[in-house]
Amino acid sequence: MCPAANIESGEMIHPQAGVLARVDAARAAASIVDGGKSSSQAISAVLYGQGLSVRDQGMVKEMALGVVRWYWTLEDIANRMLKASMRKKDRIIFFLILVGLYQLKFMRIPPHAVVNATVSGCEVIGKPWTKALVNGMLRNYQRRSAEIDGQAATVEARTAHPRWIHDKIRAAWPEQSETILDTNNRRPPMSLRVNLHRIARDQYLECLWAANLKAAVDVCTESGIVLEKPTAVESLPGFVDGLVSVQDIAAQLIAPRLDIHPGHRVLDACAAPGGKTAHMLEIAPGVSELVALEADPGRLEQLRSNLERLGLAATCVVADGTCTDQWWDGRLFDRILIDAPCTGSGVIRRHPDIKHHRRATDLIQLCRIQSKLLDALWPLLVSGGKLMYVTCSVFPEENESQIGDFLARHSQVEVLPVSAPVGLDRTIGRQTLNGVDGLDGFFFTLLRKRESGQ
Ligand SMILES: C[S@@+](CC[C@H](N)C(=O)[O-])C[C@H]1O[C@@H](n2cnc3c(N)ncnc32)[C@H](O)[C@@H]1O
Repeated sequence: MCPAANIESGEMIHPQAGVLARVDAARAAASIVDGGKSSSQAISAVLYGQGLSVRDQGMVKEMALGVVRWYWTLEDIANRMLKASMRKKDRIIFFLILVGLYQLKFMRIPPHAVVNATVSGCEVIGKPWTKALVNGMLRNYQRRSAEIDGQAATVEARTAHPRWIHDKIRAAWPEQSETILDTNNRRPPMSLRVNLHRIARDQYLECLWAANLKAAVDVCTESGIVLEKPTAVESLPGFVDGLVSVQDIAAQLIAPRLDIHPGHRVLDACAAPGGKTAHMLEIAPGVSELVALEADPGRLEQLRSNLERLGLAATCVVADGTCTDQWWDGRLFDRILIDAPCTGSGVIRRHPDIKHHRRATDLIQLCRIQSKLLDALWPLLVSGGKLMYVTCSVFPEENESQIGDFLARHSQVEVLPVSAPVGLDRTIGRQTLNGVDGLDGFFFTLLRKRESGQ
């Protein structure tokens, strides 16, 4: 018997829903690009109290994230069509124009509907005098899109990436850079991790099909399923009861490779929101203790509620992993996972705001934190124990170079091979790349502490 999904309805049909959706998308995109808000914060803020249907909320999300993803391309088109630059206080209208251009360029909506609903947004925003400008620009683009698109002159406009990210990707991965850049601008697939402790993967797959959700098993993992189309988690059978979690396939490669056995004491040093904590507990329920450490109290709360949903238990600690004197009780760990804070350059398709919020200088800062975490946590590992270092980055500074420097500072480290049916085997560790084999970009390496005399 398949468990039911949990969908609550009660939404209103708003007569101007299509127009409101465009205005909401412009407001959300502006607060991500100009206001520095995260996508999830910005989108929930605009949707709050609006009473839009699930379908219209999906439209807001699609248009807002679309503008954030393609910002440099759309901005360039708009700037080339504008006769004079727009006043700072009309910036929201500029974002409304980008929402219009995004729909014309990337969505299958009849152009007249795009123009009408987007232009009407000027009134909702309270700037009706801008209607003629918005109308003129969108109609101009509709008539001459091929010619206008062909005139994009800068790398930023052609690839929709800030220059520094573009250049780093090209330099690090010359052969795969086209795939990586292209993937970063696409909508991500939605993949699931079945809680094998509770239900077999094939059985859960049948539940999805029974709920009219088309999906297929992922052959590279024991627990992965990829949905044909993303869906709200509430519509997944048994989600609230902990049968399944949302997790990219590359992230599902990590926990099974840490070689956890019954009785082990495990440290998950950068744990929230708990995707890998839960995976470790699902595949190794016999651990003596799993300590989930997290510096951000709000994120640790998310981890707690994820574990509660899945019926799993860990010792949750809010602390800075680098300050071991403040939280460590002196007992060594058999296994340590450091899923380090990083630029997120491997998961840009899931978090397109990374392209706007990350700066080249952040990379230096993050590398410092990563090496501090490695140095502080290595002494907590038992002799013969294993430590997995992970990032969701494709920048070598955070990955092979980081571990290369660590090896130069510590003598008792052995780099173990990590095999997997996907990813590139590097001199140190394994790397998956954005879009290659359909995966997110992850780096992971397994280190063993040599016993004295070895
Ligand atoms: C890449 S995320 C971890 C994702 C998580 N392992 C999962 O699979 O769901 C990195 C986490 O490390 C936390 N963090 C950053 N610096 C930290 C530190 N010094 N000590 C402990 N946690 C830290 C961040 O707040 C963030 O939640």
